Amino acid sequence: MFVPGYRDHPTEPWDPHAPADPGEAEDFLRRCYTENPRLGPVEPRLAIVRAQIAATGTYMHTPDELAHGARMAWRNSSRCVGRLYWRSLMVLDRRRARTADEIYSLLVQHLHTAGNGTIRPVISVFAPAQPGQPYARVWNEQLIRYAGYRTEDGRVVGDPRLESFTRSIRGFGWQGKGEAFDVLPLVIETPAEGIRLYELPERAIREVPIGHPDHPWFAELGLRWHAVPAIANMRLSIGGVHYPLAPFNGWYLGTELGARNFADADRYDMLPEIAARLGLDRSRESTLWRDRALVELNRAVLHSFEQAGVKMSDHHTESRRFMTHLRNEEKAGRPVPADWTWIVPPMSASLTPVFHRYYDELDLRPNFYLDTEAATLARDGIRSCPHHR
Ligand code: ARG
Repeated sequence: MFVPGYRDHPTEPWDPHAPADPGEAEDFLRRCYTENPRLGPVEPRLAIVRAQIAATGTYMHTPDELAHGARMAWRNSSRCVGRLYWRSLMVLDRRRARTADEIYSLLVQHLHTAGNGTIRPVISVFAPAQPGQPYARVWNEQLIRYAGYRTEDGRVVGDPRLESFTRSIRGFGWQGKGEAFDVLPLVIETPAEGIRLYELPERAIREVPIGHPDHPWFAELGLRWHAVPAIANMRLSIGGVHYPLAPFNGWYLGTELGARNFADADRYDMLPEIAARLGLDRSRESTLWRDRALVELNRAVLHSFEQAGVKMSDHHTESRRFMTHLRNEEKAGRPVPADWTWIVPPMSASLTPVFHRYYDELDLRPNFYLDTEAATLARDGIRSCPHHR
């Protein structure tokens, strides 16, 4: 499908040596200024940007362009069901930070801003990559994640997803408590200082203990989770400028914990134990013991966040909001790129309206991209190819 003003971008690997693409810069600026008439005419701005790119290989976004670009990137994120509120994204311009200490303290501030009182969507945008220059990054996939430790009997204590990463940073000298919910330190890498590890202060980590509205024994499972999901390793791409460090957060959808993090067999894998405690018949699949345990686990998650006063949505409500978003965007004359496999919730799919239709699968920019190297660092805490920087 071709939409005027949009280009169907392939998710090609980013070349950190390439200068900013003037065509992409122009696309972005025209759109940004059209969507925000108060910014004035775009032509004079285009002339400046063209000259900046010709002279330096890149250009600097104004604070308004940065803010709107980040919001557009969220709007274009085809895997996110929570985009109804894209306009409300709070954009913190952190482009001047250079040292690991500065970056760390601004990341802590990010968590405070995002999670104090109600949870609000926030992005902190650090310095853009200069073509051919090394840049600062955070290795962690999220600002808050739980360690995973493989024990002698081969099982994993904690989050198995972070087992490899945890092993690597223990090699850097980090010592975890060896418990199921140990918050990992931040691994901040800067060109001048290399890799530095930082523990998050407790006050920056809001957590919710998980209990069940009807089953007091549920709390004994000892489950807990952090309130703020803050993706830290995706590159924000705006108008040909790349921001490799631009952590962002929204609030959780219950199923992210209840139907994935706690339920997946390769994550906390809690369904067998919950089913056993519920006294369900696990001798055959057709008793649907997994499904029944899954529902109770998800009730527990939603109940606990509500009790703790921490914002979280359920998949029914969020799906309806997404339908509203689709209507809003249609009215504005914009397509809504969406990936069905991510938009549809991982439980009770057909009970939600988002299940019963197809979507445009477009790759529009601005957007967020997960580069292969960033994904490898977050998974294994080690570069796959040591001489490649
Ligand atoms: N699914 C991820 C997690 O469980 C978080 C992804 C972002 N989620 C969000 N609600 N913004 O941690």
